[in-house]
Amino acid sequence: MIEAQAGRRYDAGMPTLTDVDIWPLLGVRISLSDLELAGIDDRTALDLGRLAARGIHGMTLPFATPWSRGSDLEVARNLYRYHSGLRTTVRPEEWSLDFAARLDHTLIGVQTLVAKDFPTTRTAESMSWLGRDWQGRGIGTLQRVAILTFAFEGLGAEVVTTSAWADNAASNAVTRKLGYRPNGEEVLEREGRAAVLKHYRLDRTGWDRRPEEFRQVVQIEGLEPIRAWLGLDQPRP
Ligand SMILES: CC(C)(COP(=O)(O)OP(=O)(O)OC[C@H]1O[C@@H](n2cnc3c(N)ncnc32)[C@H](O)[C@@H]1OP(=O)(O)O)[C@@H](O)C(=O)NCCC(=O)NCCS
Repeated sequence: MIEAQAGRRYDAGMPTLTDVDIWPLLGVRISLSDLELAGIDDRTALDLGRLAARGIHGMTLPFATPWSRGSDLEVARNLYRYHSGLRTTVRPEEWSLDFAARLDHTLIGVQTLVAKDFPTTRTAESMSWLGRDWQGRGIGTLQRVAILTFAFEGLGAEVVTTSAWADNAASNAVTRKLGYRPNGEEVLEREGRAAVLKHYRLDRTGWDRRPEEFRQVVQIEGLEPIRAWLGLDQPRP
């Protein structure tokens, strides 16, 4: 007997392996008010492609690479290809944990946490985007609080960094509100022109001292399997 539902047993003496056993990211749910961040499966990656194709930004590129440029179809494919590719690289030494953001069950964007050698460095970087219709309503700030809670309190991060082009007012504003410290800037090429990329850093002490309004209750499900998968339950080197 094979049940179609995710996570059910196969017959003929095969071990019972759920989707979450195989890919622990799919079991993570980070909830704050009516916002939820959850691991991205194939169906969701396609839906995110459709969301991105409806538009994320105006003329100025907010990202490091121009994946959001082009026709609707190109943008949707870029997004799907990118999220498919991430699965080939997740391991304790290097990962990108990408979460679909939903508000009241409606898909609205993506929140990402990336790291190299996290079990040793305990340092990660966050990034995010929302569909244009969802921007400017405080949701990006909630998303950031959710991923910072996951990083600091769930995974045991000591530092979380973020970066934004100097002309990305919304992203820089969210970062400043949460108490990150400026961590330098650099001039980089962006679509053929020089542009300033600002870096920020928030350590655990800064996080613990964040303003009262950002101390919402955040619920995290599925933490233990992902901690084990990312090698965070071993003694630190
Ligand atoms: C960046 C992003 C995730 C922020 O999410 P958001 O929901 O729009 O942000 P919020 O509404 O929570 O907060 C935005 C803050 O920026 C401020 N802001 C927005 N535009 C601004 C402007 N032109 N000048 C000054 N402040 C501005 C808002 O006033 C708000 O601050 P406040 O709450 O103190 O008033 C979202 O705008 C987005 O997806 N943008 C396109 C993609 C992107 O830039 N991704 C980040 C790449 S680094």
